[in-house]
Amino acid sequence: MSDQHLTVVDHPLVQHKLTIMRDKDTPTAVFRQLLREISQLLAYEVTRNLAMTTKQVETPMEVMDAPTLDGKKLALISILRAGNGLLDGVLELIPSARVGFVGLYRDEETLQPVQYYFKVPEGLDDRLVIAVDPMLATGNSSVAAIDLLKDAGATNIIFLCLLASPEGVARMKEAHPDVPIVTASLDAGLNELGYIMPGLGDAGDRMFGTK
Ligand code: URA
Repeated sequence: MSDQHLTVVDHPLVQHKLTIMRDKDTPTAVFRQLLREISQLLAYEVTRNLAMTTKQVETPMEVMDAPTLDGKKLALISILRAGNGLLDGVLELIPSARVGFVGLYRDEETLQPVQYYFKVPEGLDDRLVIAVDPMLATGNSSVAAIDLLKDAGATNIIFLCLLASPEGVARMKEAHPDVPIVTASLDAGLNELGYIMPGLGDAGDRMFGTK
């Protein structure tokens, strides 16, 4: 499913791996590995429209003008801490990307984001910026992170997540209609604690084995 603002990557491999991740009995190591694999499949989708140019290469047979990526290296921004689970896989696929971190935690009472760290590559205005966070739940922290990236100069941003809620998508669309969202699933909604339902629980806890 895809509109201008939201792309749900319904590839069979993505959906199969996601189902295993949702299972509460899936161990931490498997969860982490699957997140890495899915992040690479999602990265394939996110980078579909990267600018291209050509360069001359000499094959063993002859010289040709071969396609190659154009423009400044893209920037991957991990929204800590769970963003790191998506970051690792994407970075394996795009090893020359520049990397930044936005540290936000969610106040469990107000559900509002609180910033504790911000470090991003220079020249964000000239780069495609891919912000990664596995869970687009209330959208509060995602919107706050995008606010910070725009304040730092970013103009071309894609938001990459594993699961999205309709509430989070609506909140992002309202605050940042220019930021497309790519996700593996649009789930049913949020519970009263702001968790995605049916979801997969707390992504950070599941990937790091905390709690
Ligand atoms: N963050 C998570 O890790 N899981 C949710 O369901 C919502 C926010």
